[in-house]
Amino acid sequence: MIWQRVYVKLVLTVGLSFGAFTPTTVYFPDPNNINGVIPAYLDGPAPSIQATDNSSITFHLVTRKSRIPQQIFAYDIASITNSSFIPKASLKILSHGFGGEYTDWFPMDMTKVLLDLDEDINIILIDWKKLATSPWYTIAAPATKLVGVTAANLLKFLMQEGLVTIDNIHIIGHSLGSHVAGNIGHELEGKCPRVTALDPALPLFDITTDENRIDPSDGKFVEVIHTGSGHLHENGLAFLSTRGHADFYPNRGMHQPGCESETFGTCSHARAPKYYTESIVNKENFYACSCGHFDLFLAGKCDCSNRIYFGLSSPSTARGKYFFLTQEKSPYGMGLNGLVNFGNPSSDSGADLPNFRIFLMLSTVIMYNLFLKL
Ligand SMILES: *[C@@H]1O[C@H](CO)[C@@H](O)[C@H](O)[C@H]1NC(C)=O
Ligand SMILES: *[C@@H]1O[C@H](CO)[C@@H](O)[C@H](O)[C@H]1NC(C)=O
Repeated sequence: MIWQRVYVKLVLTVGLSFGAFTPTTVYFPDPNNINGVIPAYLDGPAPSIQATDNSSITFHLVTRKSRIPQQIFAYDIASITNSSFIPKASLKILSHGFGGEYTDWFPMDMTKVLLDLDEDINIILIDWKKLATSPWYTIAAPATKLVGVTAANLLKFLMQEGLVTIDNIHIIGHSLGSHVAGNIGHELEGKCPRVTALDPALPLFDITTDENRIDPSDGKFVEVIHTGSGHLHENGLAFLSTRGHADFYPNRGMHQPGCESETFGTCSHARAPKYYTESIVNKENFYACSCGHFDLFLAGKCDCSNRIYFGLSSPSTARGKYFFLTQEKSPYGMGLNGLVNFGNPSSDSGADLPNFRIFLMLSTVIMYNLFLKL
């Protein structure tokens, strides 16, 4: 199994490096199987799905008054007054990604911990599984626009009915759902106070414009978490470049600890919602350090004493790039130990433990690169 994966990785890496072939199929994490992958065709025959038909896009409300999802409809006030919707409370709208549906671990794990907060929150789960079906990535990627427009129409309706104000809305999406989040924010004219993109998918979005993908104009505060970033030949699936006001790069934003045997970056890609969900359970689990580059951060050259929280408690005043380290397994957060230098910026030794981690990390990277060059 392992050798099979290594072989595939080697062939792909070598092939891509020399431009021998362009992949037409990549793999995303299987939302229903933690170790599985699902194929995504980057070109090829398109099935006969109307990308203008919003009828398969549905919305499901969960609140602490009713943890069983209830379907709600835009322009149908009875479906909302008859639900557990809490007027004027804060609202979070969540979007799954490629091959997903609303009952998957993301967004469900996050929903569960949000409901456990001592707060009234309306959680709306978007379901666009028909348009997100594997392997039709060429349908799913452009459909993020239609899903964004349709979800924004529901939010506009709720606002018109006086059930929610824009200042109470938080949009969250994972993978392709990050672009759904961006497109919802775009339809709301960038007035939404918080948009969270969890490892925004890169394939096909590198060749489109900001109007169709997550970018800082989509909200007053756009935060982006990068965990499986890079190009396909680097085992990446998501944007490495900054896409928000604040961009968080745990472990350099790629090749997450505990994901060493992954193919196509699928394990790392799935980490972004896991870290964010954990930050909701305990905000002290993750601190992030503002720094120009991960190498400077690792070398202890950035002053992490003015750290911020990562995740749901990150301040909307955050700007630029932020870094931290995590553990291989849940709980991923290391608290202050996830920072390399949180005292003296000129210190070149730092603590012993972070140095050892840096050594391990650098040697892994070097070994990996040597191996790929064979
Ligand atoms: C309201 O909800 C109840 C129970 O869920 C259902 O039986 C009823 O048909 C709903 N009414 C409307 C107007 O949607
Ligand atoms: C769905 O599409 C129809 C037809 O274009 C449109 O009238 C309707 O407003 C759309 N619904 C939403 C919620 O956007």
